[in-house]
Amino acid sequence: MRTPLIAGNWKMNGSVERVRAFGEAFAGADFSAAVEVAVIPPFPYLPAAAQAFAGTPLALGAQTFNPLPAGAHTGEVNAAMLVEFGVSYVLVGHSERRQHYGETNADVCQRVCAALGAGLIPVLCVGETLDERNAGATRDVVLGQVAAVMQHLEASQRERLVIAYEPVWAIGTGVTATPAEAQATMGEIRTWLATLDNALAETLRLLYGGSMKASNAAELLAQPDIDGGLVGGASLQIDDFFAICQSAG
Ligand code: PGA
Repeated sequence: MRTPLIAGNWKMNGSVERVRAFGEAFAGADFSAAVEVAVIPPFPYLPAAAQAFAGTPLALGAQTFNPLPAGAHTGEVNAAMLVEFGVSYVLVGHSERRQHYGETNADVCQRVCAALGAGLIPVLCVGETLDERNAGATRDVVLGQVAAVMQHLEASQRERLVIAYEPVWAIGTGVTATPAEAQATMGEIRTWLATLDNALAETLRLLYGGSMKASNAAELLAQPDIDGGLVGGASLQIDDFFAICQSAG
């Protein structure tokens, strides 16, 4: 049985005020024990969030990090620092990082290993662009991104990963993949995982991301291979995010 995970990626949005408001709103939340919820704010809000989320069902995530150990890397944040502030999850390979910050599959792989080494749960983000989709390359691109990481991991590392399938054309556009489209690709991911290891394919959580909102979450989450959501825009509003978490219960 896979426990659903709903993760809210705030991207470069937020404020201390918003962190506090989420802490208060979720303090009394009584989700079925079978839903995990994480909020992923920008770095500066991690200490305030760790405090505000204590005693709530909200776990803490980070949006990226530098896989190198401490040292002369001005402006960077390493995995140990995230752990020190109570971070459990870290996004790796988000399409915005791949597209605008030049992160390659090799970089993504290095980060996944460093995250696992530090005890963080990497949320490996994969997904095709609109051009790749139109060229009929969705399956190859997505499975290629998954394989680029999985091939380098030991079995004991693979089982600690979460994979988020986020079609790039659906991110922040308001255009959501239909439940059937999302299921088709996510089913391919699970089938590919089964070629590595059947037990892994059964237990590894696959999240859908890309314009998930309160109005479409239930339908998406009802698909057999969708075990949760990576939510951007809709995770900034308490009511919307709360409703999405409830749909996963
Ligand atoms: P969106 O973003 O929900 O705003 O489309 C999802 C994401 O980028 O993780």
